[in-house]
Amino acid sequence: MPHTSIKAVIPAAGLGTRFLPATKAMPKEMLPVVDKPAIQYVVEEAAQAGIDDILVIIGRNKNAISNHFDSVPELEEKLKDKGDDDRLRRVLESSDLADIHFVRQGEPKGLGHAVLRARAHVGDASFAVMLGDDLIDERDELLTTMIAAHERTGAAVVALMEVDPDHIHLYGVASVEETGDDGLVKVTGLVEKPKKEEAPSNLAIIGRYVLAPDVFDVLERTEPGKGGEIQLTDALQELAADPDGPGVYGVVFRGRRYDTGDRVDYIKAIVQLAADREDLGPDLRPWFKEFAAKL
Ligand code: G1P
Repeated sequence: MPHTSIKAVIPAAGLGTRFLPATKAMPKEMLPVVDKPAIQYVVEEAAQAGIDDILVIIGRNKNAISNHFDSVPELEEKLKDKGDDDRLRRVLESSDLADIHFVRQGEPKGLGHAVLRARAHVGDASFAVMLGDDLIDERDELLTTMIAAHERTGAAVVALMEVDPDHIHLYGVASVEETGDDGLVKVTGLVEKPKKEEAPSNLAIIGRYVLAPDVFDVLERTEPGKGGEIQLTDALQELAADPDGPGVYGVVFRGRRYDTGDRVDYIKAIVQLAADREDLGPDLRPWFKEFAAKL
């Protein structure tokens, strides 16, 4: 496993209104995707890229997240007594993934504001921001490539993916130039959630960023933007437009990404991941076929 000194920041203070009432008393990051809460996939992805220090920015009602990554001795004892090694291993895994810290966002003033709350923990070092709505398939590589691009360029690096123009208004969108390096583009501009007609491209930011600490100074002065919130995209646009800085680069991701941010995509994510699983797929796949034939 690679090791990096980069820390990861996972903003998890959103209200999850699209999933109400499921998220009335439970954070959306704890919604199960097959048999793990969504946020565990993100923590596993960070661990796989060699990150061992993670800061989760939490909001109200988020104690379930810290409990999830803590050990539960009574449960572990019970599983041990029963000889249920498989379940015991899965329970232990979730508390052994990384050193996980928590800080409260306070007021929910947007993604840029949430990231700024990480300043004291991150200090004067580069860090990754990983959004829990986007799950990256563990069989596909993204974060390690982004960290390498950041180390090479010193620039902010965002993950970009081509999306359907009908969905572009849901994302931060980049205008880009080729670099000659396959899969790496120079970002010339960024706009948060543009209308379809105004989008500079169909390259959307998916929720992975590797940033230098200079972004904190920019975030300090970033005014509320789209939706009255302090937008990370706006701070990155300032870095992209700065002729004296290293700018912003994009790693174009062509692998499997699952969006758990809205209900239809969340259900699709569960179906796809379950169908691929060795323990569940063989039972599910024939049923999916039968079910689809009846639609
Ligand atoms: C956030 C960012 C947006 C990005 C998206 C990726 O939006 O503001 O730029 O494209 O995550 O998932 P949200 O989905 O939180 O509204």
